[in-house]
Amino acid sequence: MSRRLTNLLLLAFLTGAFLTGWTAFGIGTGWVRLPLVFHAVLGFAVVALIPWKSVIVRHGLKVNTGQAATSLALLLLVVVTIASGLLFSTAGVRSYGPLTAMQVHVGGGTLALILTLVHARQRPVRPRAIDLERRSLLRAGAVLGAAGAAYVGVSGATTLLRLPGRDSRPTGSYERGSGDPAAMPVTSWLNDGTPSIAVEDWQLRVGGSTYDRDAIAAFEDEITTILDCTGGWYSEQIWSGARLDRLIGDRAGRSIRIRSATGYERRFPIAEASSLLLATHVGGEPLSAGHGAPARLVAPGRRGFWWVKWVNEIVVDDRSWWLQPPFPLT
Ligand code: HEM
Ligand code: HEM
Repeated sequence: MSRRLTNLLLLAFLTGAFLTGWTAFGIGTGWVRLPLVFHAVLGFAVVALIPWKSVIVRHGLKVNTGQAATSLALLLLVVVTIASGLLFSTAGVRSYGPLTAMQVHVGGGTLALILTLVHARQRPVRPRAIDLERRSLLRAGAVLGAAGAAYVGVSGATTLLRLPGRDSRPTGSYERGSGDPAAMPVTSWLNDGTPSIAVEDWQLRVGGSTYDRDAIAAFEDEITTILDCTGGWYSEQIWSGARLDRLIGDRAGRSIRIRSATGYERRFPIAEASSLLLATHVGGEPLSAGHGAPARLVAPGRRGFWWVKWVNEIVVDDRSWWLQPPFPLT
């Protein structure tokens, strides 16, 4: 394999791993396994290129380009990302000190892609027609084939050896505290923090109407469903409160904006109103502050960052629901 092809394939595989990882978070829980299988194969394909890349690395370090610091930082990030992904999926390693394995993995992978782009810009490898020739494509195919075989081998071994990874959901997440809300982890997307809200003073605004906590609880709508956090855990609970279609009544529009007292918000298509629940209780008990008291959204099939906590406002308007960043930026 030529040096050019090795470097171009590394660029392609890392970009692919980054995109499939985020796609899996975006899809929610439905057909999420498909991008995650591609994700794993692309990760193994990066590993499969080690014999060729190590020749390039050795040469690069010898001629001393003056940019080795970035390159070595990138190398470290790629190793950390792949190792944390593998250890999570097979051995069930879920944290490193104060950080969750997914924070290390997703943070490392995202930084690795940025550094790869910097590294590749410092050493431009312009694609040429030859890269699309049969021989190059066959080589790329062979690397992907070997990576696919490695993936089948690793998942087979995980099942045969009864490793913890055998018990994860198709999203990769592990079970935590199902049926026992107090044992369910408290997490937030990026920098959101638990606000202190006195239930007696709190009101939910929906258009011109307001509701207090007891008025929402009085609807007594109930869903048993799984909260699957991008932090790598899931938990099944009985959630109760009011279905959104009942709260918004006959207000017309294209989307529903759900806003937290912290300013965090997500927008949903109006057609989903009847499957969304504004929960005041979980497992028959009022929500705790960390889990979103006085009221939080329950969005079955969507990953945790859609389950807005500490909701104090619901707005129906004519904006399209997809006019928002695919992932919250704060
Ligand atoms: C997994 C991702 C990658 C890692 C960990 C990595 C790491 C390294 C390291 C440690 C070096 C040697 C130090 C240096 O010369 O700066 C190097 C050299 C180099 N890398 Fe990468 N690299 C990666 C991806 C890429 C990509 C995507 C490209 C281009 C598209 C690229 C092109 C090069 C080139 C041209 C050299 C210099 C070789 C020389 O001058 O002899 N690398 N890489
Ligand atoms: C860009 C560099 C990345 C590489 C090379 C990489 C590689 C890997 C590898 C090798 C695994 C283990 C797969 C297995 O054994 O089944 C894995 C797991 C995983 N990665 Fe990544 N990853 C990267 C970035 C990301 C990003 C940015 C995300 C999310 C936004 C992500 C989400 C996941 C998830 C959810 C798993 C667990 C899947 C499961 O257990 O089934 N990864 N990754």
